[in-house]
Amino acid sequence: MDKFRNFKVVPRVVYGRGCFGQLGEILAEHRSGGGFTAFLVDDVFRGRPLAERLPLEKGDLHLWVNVDDEPKTAYVDHLTAVVKDHGQTVDGVVGIGGGSTMDLAKAVSLMLTNPGTSADYQGWDRIRHPAAYHVGIPTLSGTGAEVSRTTVLTGPEKKLGINSDHTVFDQIVLDPELTAGAPADQRFFTGMDCYIHCVESLSGTFLNAFSRAFGEKALALCREVFLQEPADADEKLMMASYFGGMSIAYSQVGVCHALSYGLSYVLGVHHGIGNSIVFDYLERFYPEGVAEFRQMMARQNVRLPRRLTAGLSEQDMNRMVDVALVLEPLWENALGPEWRSQMTRDRIRDLYDGM
Ligand SMILES: NC(=O)c1ccc[n+]([C@@H]2O[C@H](COP(=O)([O-])OP(=O)(O)OC[C@H]3O[C@@H](n4cnc5c(N)ncnc54)[C@H](O)[C@@H]3O)[C@@H](O)[C@H]2O)c1
Ligand SMILES: [Fe+2]
Repeated sequence: MDKFRNFKVVPRVVYGRGCFGQLGEILAEHRSGGGFTAFLVDDVFRGRPLAERLPLEKGDLHLWVNVDDEPKTAYVDHLTAVVKDHGQTVDGVVGIGGGSTMDLAKAVSLMLTNPGTSADYQGWDRIRHPAAYHVGIPTLSGTGAEVSRTTVLTGPEKKLGINSDHTVFDQIVLDPELTAGAPADQRFFTGMDCYIHCVESLSGTFLNAFSRAFGEKALALCREVFLQEPADADEKLMMASYFGGMSIAYSQVGVCHALSYGLSYVLGVHHGIGNSIVFDYLERFYPEGVAEFRQMMARQNVRLPRRLTAGLSEQDMNRMVDVALVLEPLWENALGPEWRSQMTRDRIRDLYDGM
């Protein structure tokens, strides 16, 4: 019999409009006296009211992080060094921002207690020591990074997460108010990350009742948010992200994510938009999902960039295929254990050629 996955979930969740105000109280329990907390905050909030609301105490470190590029292992190593230089005892790491910033916070908290470079740990279960206490606070909804056991990093050789039980946040703060100011396009693309997680999980071969329960609810919430635009859309999208993340925890994503990783490795396209670009070409694999995605895109008045791979060198095209092929569990979930016979290099190359 196959072994069942004994996966770790986030042990503490505070949810509700305005709950960010409780962060100081939450962190107080983890302060050692003499130590400090490092706040990694998306620099999009520089000069915005949120910057004034950080519960900083004397000695704390506040770092603005930049996510114009998605997290790279070199950036994680740099931030880790800055935190280590600030003082000896790190009581905690708090990440405030979208999936990129939350992933940076996860990775830094791991690298504070594990030697070497973060690139050494890209893969599955390579982390040996528990991370520093780490808190995730999303300001965009959709990636599910707040609940997942990975931090997705682009390294010198690949785009691959540090997947481990230690990666999981110790605490998350889900305050829908924080997502209010996001630009409409970004909100849509990150929301589609969630929608695509659900479609890929629900149509995958790894699906079980646990994943289905979370995935169906998340899908229904995405539908409501993007096709009906209810007054409490921010609340609903935040819960869709959480449920979508829980759904893939016990299943996996699929073709769209595998191809999107390659695209973003070579072209630097962000995850949400990269997924949307790829998904639009996957009618053969996910016919209903793609049709509904197009309805949502029309309703939200969003346009996708086209012809991204036109003019790419042979070497870049090959690298894109290489990155996509590394993601074996994704292909297996989408196409079954014999996926290699269906998804050859040439077939992947053909798919990319059309994008
Ligand atoms: N760890 C995981 O499980 C997981 C899952 C999916 C995706 N990811 C990662 O998440 C990242 C994508 O995250 P994302 O889609 O949330 O976007 P993001 O964090 O990359 O941010 C996208 C843009 O939105 C801005 N932004 C964020 N919050 C804002 C707000 N409230 N108002 C205005 N602007 C705001 C950012 O500054 C940035 O310019 C990728 O790096 C991807 O690899 C991780
Ligand atoms: Fe995703």
